[in-house]
Amino acid sequence: MSTMLEVTGLNHSYGKGADAQIAVDNLSFTVEAGQLACIVGPSGCGKSTLLRCVSGLVAPSAGTVSLHGDRVDGVPDDLAVVFQDYSRSLFPWLTVARNVEFPLRWGGLSKAERRERAQEALDSVGLSGAVSGKFPWQLSGGMQQRVSIARALASRPALLLMDEPFASVDAQTRFELEDLLRRVQRQQGSTVLVVTHDIDESVYLGDRILVLSKSPASIVADLPVDLPVERNQITTRESAEFVALRGEVARLLTGGEVLAKADTAEWDLAEQTSAAAAPTTETTAP
Ligand SMILES: Nc1ncnc2c1ncn2[C@@H]1O[C@H](COP(=O)(O)OP(=O)(O)O)[C@@H](O)[C@H]1O
Ligand SMILES: [Mg+2]
Repeated sequence: MSTMLEVTGLNHSYGKGADAQIAVDNLSFTVEAGQLACIVGPSGCGKSTLLRCVSGLVAPSAGTVSLHGDRVDGVPDDLAVVFQDYSRSLFPWLTVARNVEFPLRWGGLSKAERRERAQEALDSVGLSGAVSGKFPWQLSGGMQQRVSIARALASRPALLLMDEPFASVDAQTRFELEDLLRRVQRQQGSTVLVVTHDIDESVYLGDRILVLSKSPASIVADLPVDLPVERNQITTRESAEFVALRGEVARLLTGGEVLAKADTAEWDLAEQTSAAAAPTTETTAP
């Protein structure tokens, strides 16, 4: 396997001088090509900041990010991001098909090729031709997020970054989208980095889990997920391996070194069972 993403000594602070707040503290990790890696950490620990630095949207205060060996400074052409807030990441005045085609304009494809590529991507996320002509606001939240995923996949990115992509949909839809992501990721051999605050989601989705400390984010563990490749929302979640791993991640998030660093929002296990989280206010890019 080749290394797709390499993050070395990444630091990011907001503000300057005495007011500076460290959000990401000396993070180093790699993601291999074809891997689905999850990063799990409590709300406010610095996950979105980390993804913004990895995507080149924000220049880190220190450290480097490399994508297939090329240093990232600015958003690479072959990188796609899916944000939590689907309602603000799709263009309301463009149809579903046009939304998915939009980023392909810069890829040197003909109009017919763009159409075909967009329809392929929509098919892969289970959206039929009938949906292509609708506008995003005519669709449910789960379907809008499928469109965002299709748009990200249509450009065949070297790396797909997802920031809490299923946190704003209901539990049933979240299960469907998790299965969809695993299926499409394996079919296309994509390299995906998903950030979540949900322990169960990180275990269910990932080939591997990076566990972050409370703010400022640093890596407290890098765990392989030895669950079968084919997963099932009911039986996998009931399996002894799943239960053991979610326990280990929960202990890492709430215990020892992590608690000693606590100075921001308390990690709340109750949050794991609550319904859809409130939408974020972060900037969304098309
Ligand atoms: N644009 C910003 N300016 C200043 N502080 C910020 C900004 N974005 C995030 N922060 C702060 O950085 C910390 C990490 O935030 P964030 O990366 O959004 O965490 P997470 O995604 O894990 O919830 C928080 O304390 C947050 O208030
Ligand atoms: Mg966030």
